[in-house]
Amino acid sequence: MKIGCPTEIKPQEFRVGMTPDAAREAVSHGHEVVIQKSAGMGAGFTDEDYVSAGAAILDTAEEIFATADMIVKVKEPQAVERKMLREGQLLFTYLHLAPDPEQTHDLLESGCTAIAYETVTDDRGGLPLLAPMSEVAGRLAPQVGAWTLQKANGGRGVLMGGVPGVAPAKVVVIGGGVVGTHAAKVAAGMGADVTILDRSLTRLKYLDDVFGRTFKNQYSTAGATAELVREADMVIGAVLIPGAAAPKLVSRAQLSEMKPGAVLVDVAIDQGGCFETSKATTHAEPIYEVDGIMHYCVANMPGAVARTSTQALGNATLPFMLNLANKGWRKACEDDPHLLNGLNVHAGQLTYYAVGEALGMDVLSPKLALKQ
Ligand SMILES: NC(=O)c1ccc[n+]([C@@H]2O[C@H](COP(=O)([O-])OP(=O)(O)OC[C@H]3O[C@@H](n4cnc5c(N)ncnc54)[C@H](O)[C@@H]3O)[C@@H](O)[C@H]2O)c1
Repeated sequence: MKIGCPTEIKPQEFRVGMTPDAAREAVSHGHEVVIQKSAGMGAGFTDEDYVSAGAAILDTAEEIFATADMIVKVKEPQAVERKMLREGQLLFTYLHLAPDPEQTHDLLESGCTAIAYETVTDDRGGLPLLAPMSEVAGRLAPQVGAWTLQKANGGRGVLMGGVPGVAPAKVVVIGGGVVGTHAAKVAAGMGADVTILDRSLTRLKYLDDVFGRTFKNQYSTAGATAELVREADMVIGAVLIPGAAAPKLVSRAQLSEMKPGAVLVDVAIDQGGCFETSKATTHAEPIYEVDGIMHYCVANMPGAVARTSTQALGNATLPFMLNLANKGWRKACEDDPHLLNGLNVHAGQLTYYAVGEALGMDVLSPKLALKQ
């Protein structure tokens, strides 16, 4: 199969769909890999890295889209890219179609087959191609929160780990899923006094079993949250209710009860945010202040560490990408129901029920799509 990887063109996107290592693996399985010139630069991979992995470099996205059987990307195709997709071509990338009727329409019109990273599943009910970015954002949250806590950045001037004789920062993590667990691990590793809140007792039991005394955990009620937030130096928002906007768990009125210069890091901002005063920010201007409380609300946190994020995403996508290339998408999806769950569009038809429901469109069963 000829696998093509164009340069990402969405603003502030520095990741790339294929690492040189992934290219090398694909080539070693007998596939041809074409990479757009400089596609890996934002993540620190040079064209020479790809060439020594056995890939060929093409100058333009047009050439990549015109020649490749499968396009491997990071972000959903932008309007100009969607025009270049063609019938029978396979697209493997993040799509997030439910809130995006324009993209859905263009993908259907193109006649391509599109497998979305975010809906591929695993045996444990997880989302293996979404989890790496939650891991990155979770581990980054205490790091950016610690920077924001510094006096010059508007924070309280508190050191995460304290020093002998001085208490460490108090960190509260709301939501103990992938983001929250990784955030708590790193905050605890920095020496902070960490409490995680979750509404799932099963999850709290798991955290207790696995992490013991590394951090505390508590059932998430409005009362418990308010009490912990009042005392906190840093609050990390990491909740998710699948398919819904994030619930607002800290109100504006609560900010006046917090310690001045305390920091809110709202990782859930991509689902609308879980603090009333959150509004999405960018890496260029990541923080702002409301009522004396500093807010960090960057919606694409993994972009700050594009190299790590590219490698983490590449590790997760590689086995699926190889299966798609080795077997063709039909056989690969027939053999792996988790990959079939990723099928969102095929030959002008929508094949993912939640997207159909969100957009009020008809859906073809993915199993039937395999036969078309
Ligand atoms: N900003 C970014 O760059 C970025 C990057 C990755 C993920 N995210 C977002 O981070 C959020 C968390 O993602 P995740 O992968 O950890 O999800 P997850 O499903 O693994 O975890 C979410 C957790 O929130 C808990 N929860 C739900 N309601 C709660 C409540 N009221 N109080 C306490 N806990 C509650 C759930 O029980 C679950 O354990 C999502 O909104 C995701 O989109 C943002």
